[in-house]
Amino acid sequence: MKRKVLLIVVALFCASLVAICEERPVYLDANASPEARAEDLLARMTLEEKVGQVTQIEIHRLQKGFWGGGELDPDWLQKVLVDYAVGSILSGGDGVPAKNAPAGWAKMTNTIQEWAQKTRLKIPVLYGIDAVHGHNGVVGAAIYPHNLGMAATFDPAGVEEYGRLTADEVRATGIHWTFAPVLDVARDPRWGRTVETFGEDPYLVGVMGASVIRGFQSTGKVMACGKHFLGYSAAENGLDRNPADFSERALREIHLPPYRAAMEAGLGSIMVNSGEVNGVPAHASRWLLTEVLRNELGFTGLAVSDWEDVAKLASYHRVAGTLDEAIARAYNAGLDMNMVPMDLAAADRLANLVRKGIVPEARLDEAVKRVLVAKFKLGLFEDPFADPARAEKLIGSPESRDLARRLARESLVLLKNENEVLPISPKKIKSVLVVGQVAESLSYLCGPWTVHWRGARDEEIVGQSILGALKARLPAGIRLAYLPRVTNKAEAERAARGVDLVIAVLGEKPDAEGNADSQELRLPPDQEEMVRLMAETGRPLAVVVVAGRPLVMPWLDTRVSALLWAFYPGNEGGTAIAEVLLGMYNPSGRLPIGFPKSVGQLPQVYNCRRTARYDPLFPFGHGLSYTKFAYSELKVPERVRLGMPVTVSVKVKNAGPVAGDEVVLLFLRDEVASVTQPAKSLRAFTRIHLAPGEERAVNFTLSPEDLSILDEDLKPVQEPGWFTIFLGGLEARFFVAEG
Ligand code: GLC
Repeated sequence: MKRKVLLIVVALFCASLVAICEERPVYLDANASPEARAEDLLARMTLEEKVGQVTQIEIHRLQKGFWGGGELDPDWLQKVLVDYAVGSILSGGDGVPAKNAPAGWAKMTNTIQEWAQKTRLKIPVLYGIDAVHGHNGVVGAAIYPHNLGMAATFDPAGVEEYGRLTADEVRATGIHWTFAPVLDVARDPRWGRTVETFGEDPYLVGVMGASVIRGFQSTGKVMACGKHFLGYSAAENGLDRNPADFSERALREIHLPPYRAAMEAGLGSIMVNSGEVNGVPAHASRWLLTEVLRNELGFTGLAVSDWEDVAKLASYHRVAGTLDEAIARAYNAGLDMNMVPMDLAAADRLANLVRKGIVPEARLDEAVKRVLVAKFKLGLFEDPFADPARAEKLIGSPESRDLARRLARESLVLLKNENEVLPISPKKIKSVLVVGQVAESLSYLCGPWTVHWRGARDEEIVGQSILGALKARLPAGIRLAYLPRVTNKAEAERAARGVDLVIAVLGEKPDAEGNADSQELRLPPDQEEMVRLMAETGRPLAVVVVAGRPLVMPWLDTRVSALLWAFYPGNEGGTAIAEVLLGMYNPSGRLPIGFPKSVGQLPQVYNCRRTARYDPLFPFGHGLSYTKFAYSELKVPERVRLGMPVTVSVKVKNAGPVAGDEVVLLFLRDEVASVTQPAKSLRAFTRIHLAPGEERAVNFTLSPEDLSILDEDLKPVQEPGWFTIFLGGLEARFFVAEG
């Protein structure tokens, strides 16, 4: 009898186990691989559900006021998230909740996820945002320097930490995807998005981009997005979204390396370039989106379009006669997700294209699977929701503001400092005059993509202006006067009377994308006139510029003794600038982009071919300190074998009066090669801190890849011959021998 009962119990247990297994599909098994879960879920989806997953709609479409924003509209929530089961929502540059505060973001994204749960398969929404210099859409968040400033820090570890901290803030507000980092390599400072790049050197862009990616993706809770694939920054004349025509050599030597570095760092997604490359819009380029991205780079992540760029294949580039043709062209080229971002009919069109076989269902399935894999990797099926309390705690936290201040300090570049007019010292300065209304501005410090696409209003930013920070830190015994504007000689003379130092604070009004394109690269005339008027008083004059790029400065003559540059340093930038002016922080930033003498020189980059003329006002890598760093004992082996690494060592001493950080830049020149090489190329760098009198040995190891070039057939090759290392004003040659 006992045996019989036992058998029945065992049978019942197995039956229930089978039942549970059958009820619990693989895609809901958190222990299964993201790929297996995606395969299982994909097999359960209808065509309509599939096209929904690869459609991205912008938050304004769901809001009651549409472009006016506001609360979410239940009718549109139903239509977008349930009827169309859209897979992704984004906040564009102005896409904010009704109440722009951490809890307001959490409430908005949680509502979206709750509506997504009403669908048959309950697939969570992937929410994306441009968190490009902090969680910059949220009022109260720490606003970091824009990428050009981040690059000027030459501090990859600090930039990675920025990514990690910001990812926590982003996920806490229920957002899982940041459209960062920009991996475009700056080619022409007239381009309105130069400040969003890490500068003109492919190696530096790759190092910084990879650092942001590692930081953002460190917790696995937020996916980064390298953009804009590929060659977006090469638009002719620096006009945003202008055609770009460049050789495959330029593509492989300049624009591709940052993506290789980004993918080695585990990049989860890319956003496609809005422009054309050699006549083919990137969104229609099978060569770029499949041959290069997938087959050559081996990228397995998600490829999302840029804003409305699929439709623009028909309306702007005219490479498609109809919207259907445009959609078919983009998906057949290899696009995965369409940032439509307003027209739900795009999903219907794609479904019809698949029904007609114009877009193979296998291609759609591949795209859907990449979206689903991303969602499983991000843990969205386990926890798609925001954590309002955590969001309130993290956003604007002391930790994030301390890091933003540290990076703002490191981003500042002292371009000129004659007669050591800076820093302001009570020993030599008793009265200072600050002129220029930018000194009072917080919005100028933060630049575009801050609360709003084209920049924030002062009252929306937490932080200290340059003037406020100066007043708060001015040593006793130094008087400070301020004039927002100086418009005539008499006014300048009167204001400068008895002043020991004039500080003119100038700035480029923030703006975004094409709105920030500049053909003149000049500051506003009233600011240039103000500098001239103050220079004519003959008083010692220091100039601070807050801008989104290098500018042309006809006013920078001998009468301007000092020049400090800030690339939209963020809401801690005012404090950082004041600390540098007062000598509380010894400036250490280095230029990630050269400054032209005139627009006529453009395009001009430091790592041009050695046969080209490079004659900048300030070169790539330039940056002064309040102390002096002396380099000695540069050592490289005289001969190395082909294919072997090269060790380089140098000694750096702080030979000056104050402690400071020194960015040690290692440049290389291949003296004779089968293809003309740059006069020098950055190959390695490190930032070190030295007390006065302290000396340290710095060592680098160059890999064979660091010594390689693309030969005449564009194949990577290391050729024997002489190479020169440039480090801190020293040079050393070594010979690479075959065999
Ligand atoms: C913009 C930008 C892109 C951004 C996207 C979403 O047009 O080109 O960098 O990520 O739209 O805001």
